[in-house]
Formats: sequence, structure tokens, C-alpha cells
Amino acid sequence: MSKVRFGVIGAGQIGHNSCKSILGHDQAEILAASDVNEPRLKELTDKFEIGKSYTDSAALINDPDLDAIYIGVPNKFHAPLAKASLEAGKHVILDKPFAMNIGEAQGVADAAAASGKLFMVGMNQRFRGPSQTIRKLVADGKLGEIYHAKAFWFRRSGIPRLGTWFGNKSMAGGGALLDIGVHLLDLALFVSNQFKPVAVSGATYTKFGNRGLGEGGWGMSDREDITFDVDDFATALIKFEGGVTVTLDVSWAIHQKDANRHDVHVFGTEGGASLFPGEIYHYGENPGNDDYQVVTPEPQVALVHEERFFNFINSILGDEEPLVNIEESLAVQKILDGIYESCATGKEVRIS
Ligand SMILES: NC(=O)c1ccc[n+]([C@@H]2O[C@H](COP(=O)([O-])OP(=O)(O)OC[C@H]3O[C@@H](n4cnc5c(N)ncnc54)[C@H](O)[C@@H]3O)[C@@H](O)[C@H]2O)c1
Repeated sequence: MSKVRFGVIGAGQIGHNSCKSILGHDQAEILAASDVNEPRLKELTDKFEIGKSYTDSAALINDPDLDAIYIGVPNKFHAPLAKASLEAGKHVILDKPFAMNIGEAQGVADAAAASGKLFMVGMNQRFRGPSQTIRKLVADGKLGEIYHAKAFWFRRSGIPRLGTWFGNKSMAGGGALLDIGVHLLDLALFVSNQFKPVAVSGATYTKFGNRGLGEGGWGMSDREDITFDVDDFATALIKFEGGVTVTLDVSWAIHQKDANRHDVHVFGTEGGASLFPGEIYHYGENPGNDDYQVVTPEPQVALVHEERFFNFINSILGDEEPLVNIEESLAVQKILDGIYESCATGKEVRIS
């Protein structure tokens, strides 16, 4: 295969970013695009000079000229479109979150196994240089035994456009937790290599969006006055096999000084690390407060391109291994489900 021939489903805000990324690779081209909204579809196909446009995604999925499909549409359609694409013999890169629940995600995983095609949830934060560097230092034991990670993303006013699908449970499955919490959760698990969760407890809150407050700038979908009934704040404690813990806190909207704060902080017996920016912390030669080191580590990036689409394309071409695998994405989905279940029941949820 000289070039990977892409079809793109979803001409929204992330669809534009994704087309630009795909076309940055010299062994990829985009032959077709699909969106239910015709004007938005035309805007995308004009901008990126995409030859075929379909308002019916099934027509794109069954286009025999395509090798791979990128899916960037409301969460409700993630699993059905990914499954159909795999069943049509296409490689698939799906935007986050994986699915509305673990049952749907497992269905996609089964379809991927049956098809033998590459399936990847495009967790872009994993590809950043500091994420790869800290992960390598952890894997090499440089921070000692990792016992905890604290992941958080606090936006003061960052709800995607109110009145769109983002704020509606039946379309999005959840709010801040599924939209931005998933990034930091995935990242915490990725750098600490913890993908065997055993229990989760959590709570979610809806305090701003339901009052018409906290809107940010993201999203191209039109306002339809769709009800806001998802979380705009979530908190969770996740326990892993072997006793490691992760805490996750996420807001689309809260009262705080800064517009945005986010990080994953990793706690080890011999050192700590932060991902934004990539830094490590440890005692110097004379352990104590007078000899404490804050160090920007040498980059140790396995994938110098730092780009999810390049990794996906190179993996199809056989030149790289995917940096996101399905088992890991299933573990993340189980935790997300567990947080919502724990909130609904008021109890800790065991994960098998
Ligand atoms: N990786 C990231 O950092 C990142 C960032 C933003 C969004 N996303 C994800 O990308 C997806 C899309 O988000 P967005 O911000 O582009 O939203 P958006 O509202 O800007 O665009 C969504 C597009 O999907 C189209 N659409 C809706 N249903 C469709 C269907 N059945 N078939 C084809 N097209 C359909 C809409 O018409 C719209 O053009 C979401 O799942 C979101 O979580 C990922």
C-alpha cells in the first residue's frame, strides 16, 4: 500500500483538526467525507479538497476505495459507526470517548478482533513528548515504586456550546467526565502503566450548564436548545491491582482563579513527576528540603512525530506499533462506567 486512503465521518470542529493532521502525513490521503449536515460537510470537503461527500455515513463506510476511517461525531454514534466500519473491512481511528458504555465498547473490540483490522481510540494526549518521557522513566523504575497518581482538569468556563449535543445525556452519555476527564484518566493510567482497576467510587454534579452558565467556545454543531442533563463536575477514586490509586477531578465549569488548570502528577517512592510541563522531582545527594531537585528530563520519545494519526497510519503500514491498544481503552471505559454507577448507587463499584 503506497498511501492509506481515508474516509472521514464528522465535519465538526475536531473533524477539521483531524483532516489537517491526516494530510500532514505523506503516505495518507482523504478521498471521502461524511456528515449529516450538508453545509458543514461542504465546508470541510472544499477546505481539504476531498473528492467524495456523503450525507449517509453507511455509503462512506461501504466505499470500496477506502482503507481507513476516522470517526469524529457525537458520542452516541461512536460504537455503531466503528463497528460497521470494521465489519466493512476498514481500519478505524475513533475519537474519544470510546463508547457510551462497556457493552458497546466490547462490541467494537469483538468486531476488531473478527476483522483483523486496526482499531485505535485516538487518545492524543498520550503522544505528547512529556507523556512519553515520563512513561519511560516510570517503566525504567527511575521514580521507584509508583503508588499514586493525581489527575485533574479544571476549566472555569469550558462547557462546549450550550444547547448542543454535548450537554445531553442521550447523545453524549455524560459531560465533563467523558469529554475531558477521559483524557487525563487515560493519561494517568498510561504513564503509570496501570490498566487493572479493581474498584472505583465517584460522584458527579450538574451545577452550571443547567443554569445556562459556564459556556466556553468549543463545538461547531448548531444550538438546538437541547436539554443540559450531564455532569459539569466529577470526582473519583480508583483502586488498582497491587494497591496503586488514582484520583481524578474534572470540571467544565467551576469557580476558580485560573481559566484552565490541568495535570497528571505521579507519586513514586524515589521521585515524582508532573506532565504539564514534563518535570521530575526528587531528593539530591543529601536528602532533605535543602537539597531538592526539580528537573526537566531529557526527552525520551519513542514516537518523535507526537501525532496520533501518524502512529495510526504508520501502524497500518507496518512501521510502528499502535500506542493505544483496545484492552487499555476497555479498562478506561470500565472505570468511566464505574464512576457513573458509583454516583447513582452511592457505593464503591467493584470492577472485574
Ligand atoms: N481528541 C480530542 O481532543 C477531541 C476534541 C474535541 C472533540 N473530540 C470528540 O470528537 C467528537 C466530535 O466532536 P466535535 O467537537 O467535532 O463536535 P461538533 O459538534 O463540532 O461536530 C460534530 C459533527 O458531527 C456531525 N454528526 C452528528 N451526527 C452524525 C452522524 N450520525 N453521522 C455523521 N455526522 C454526524 C454533526 O453534524 C457535526 O458536524 C466527539 O466525540 C468529541 O468527544 C475529541
